[in-house]
Amino acid sequence: MAGIESLSGFLGMFALNLAEQHDARRALAADASLIPDAMEESLRFNTSAQRFKRTLTRDVELHGQVMKEGDAVILAYGSANRDERMFENPDIYDITRWAKRHLGFGGGVHSCLGSMLARVGTQILFEEMLAVIPEFTRVEDELPWVSSSNFRSPRRLVLARG
Ligand code: HEM
Repeated sequence: MAGIESLSGFLGMFALNLAEQHDARRALAADASLIPDAMEESLRFNTSAQRFKRTLTRDVELHGQVMKEGDAVILAYGSANRDERMFENPDIYDITRWAKRHLGFGGGVHSCLGSMLARVGTQILFEEMLAVIPEFTRVEDELPWVSSSNFRSPRRLVLARG
């Protein structure tokens, strides 16, 4: 699954963010050098890889909570990416914020092996798309979502010019 569900899902989430955030989309269409910052903000705001599981190899205490060796724990990247201690006004989509310390690609030894490829591919796709279709909106009010507790993205995203 690595690199398939996560990347295709993220492309949909980034397109969805831009279809809803008109000021951000117009800024990117006018200046493609802003695309990387917007991409990082989308990885923070609405990442496709929401969570993964770990099994503890030793006892750990975090914030007063004791977890035992062998316990299954969930790394909730999407939640951490809205942590107000890290990001001011975390529920606001803001392409001018410095979002690189998000956990959209995880962290530590198992952080995403394909993050640079994903970034380059996404940047090229949106550069090309915004050059041809600078104005677009979403068509459907209700989106069909991927059925998964780990990934979050629309199964289908219909966009219209204008
Ligand atoms: C925007 C697209 C992508 C997102 C959001 C994403 C997200 C993630 C996340 C959150 C993890 C960490 C999982 C963990 O902590 O266990 C991860 C791991 C990984 N990703 Fe990605 N990924 C993306 C694209 C890709 C691509 C394009 C590839 C390969 C071509 C890839 C290959 C991998 C691999 C191999 C791992 C496992 C690394 C390890 O366990 O040591 N990913 N990814």
